[in-house]
Amino acid sequence: MRTQVGIFGAGPAGLMLSHLLHLAGIESIVIENRSREYIEQRIRAGLIEQWATDMLTETGVGERMEREAMFHDGSHLCFDGSTHQVNFRELVGKGITVYGQQEVVKDLVDRRLADGGQILFEVDNTAAHDCHTDKPFITLTHDGKDQRIDCDFIAGCDGFHGICRPTFPEGALTFYDREYPFGWLGILSESPPPDDELIYAYHPTGFALYTMRTPTLARLYLQVDYDEDANNWSDNRIWEQLHVRLGGTRKLQEGKILQKGVTAMRSFVCEPMRSGRLFLAGDSAHIVPPTGAKGMNLALADVKMLSRAIADFYRSRRTDLLDSYSDTCLKRVWKAQRFSWWMTQIFHVFPNEVSFDRRRQLAELDYLAHSTAAQTSLAEQYTGLPFD
Ligand code: PHB
Repeated sequence: MRTQVGIFGAGPAGLMLSHLLHLAGIESIVIENRSREYIEQRIRAGLIEQWATDMLTETGVGERMEREAMFHDGSHLCFDGSTHQVNFRELVGKGITVYGQQEVVKDLVDRRLADGGQILFEVDNTAAHDCHTDKPFITLTHDGKDQRIDCDFIAGCDGFHGICRPTFPEGALTFYDREYPFGWLGILSESPPPDDELIYAYHPTGFALYTMRTPTLARLYLQVDYDEDANNWSDNRIWEQLHVRLGGTRKLQEGKILQKGVTAMRSFVCEPMRSGRLFLAGDSAHIVPPTGAKGMNLALADVKMLSRAIADFYRSRRTDLLDSYSDTCLKRVWKAQRFSWWMTQIFHVFPNEVSFDRRRQLAELDYLAHSTAAQTSLAEQYTGLPFD
């Protein structure tokens, strides 16, 4: 087989890249080791920045989102027994969209297949070769047959555990890593969320987040130990803590818990995001803790840049945008890293935390709840920083 761009991974980064390249008249093949059902059910955060919502709509994959998503002007902060709304739209003229990541994935898969795009699911033995030449190629096994895909470029959109990052030459990468001493228990419940908008709650027993998938399907998160077994959390214990951490500021209706699971929290960046003709995008290059819901947004930002750089190369044979891809993305990545770390550290209870930190966190939340300057900064970052 031959294509222009070989893409590892059918998550939001790989699928969106393939879609954007198609719109620019460039061929690609997406390869994915999981099944279509698996990637379409994989639950992740569900919050889309304004520019990314616009990109989905403008590139023709936003139709179902426009119909089914919830568009929010702001979010709430809850601490010390009260709740405060931060109205992003009033502050920076932008809002956020609540729409599950797997819904974006479904819409992109449907669109790629309708446009005649190739996605090979359930591939095995994948490897990227000769990335430092102008004739890189991919090998894989699909339907029991060994195959080779020759391409001009390879995109590693295959996530944190993917094979593309380890393909970089020895010593070529620098890693920046932080693990947090807690995790999130994520719950999907057949009940209305306690508010029309999200509530981020700080409480002495731990952080809680009250979000949603639809007006009758709540998505709820509780701070738990990083190595917690979800089975230690009975439905009763979950609801009891969700009530406690909301501090009586809203009525929380209980419902049937449909799904629960623990997510570890980490910040991770590798630099650079390119080795020869192999380009990383999304989680293969960086991970954020979910507190600011930046993961998918950063992945979409990477492929917006990568598709432009590749399109510019085919149009003009110039390599400037390919050469600056890593630096351009990393600038945005580091700002989102800083924001996600900041959200994480003001809202969570750290083990062995000293009383000074408890007071400092409350002062920071109080400042945020009452200062227009602080809220504007939150709003600008939460709804998505502008591109340079
Ligand atoms: C979600 O809806 O799953 C969600 C929203 C905001 C976050 C994290 C997760 O910060």
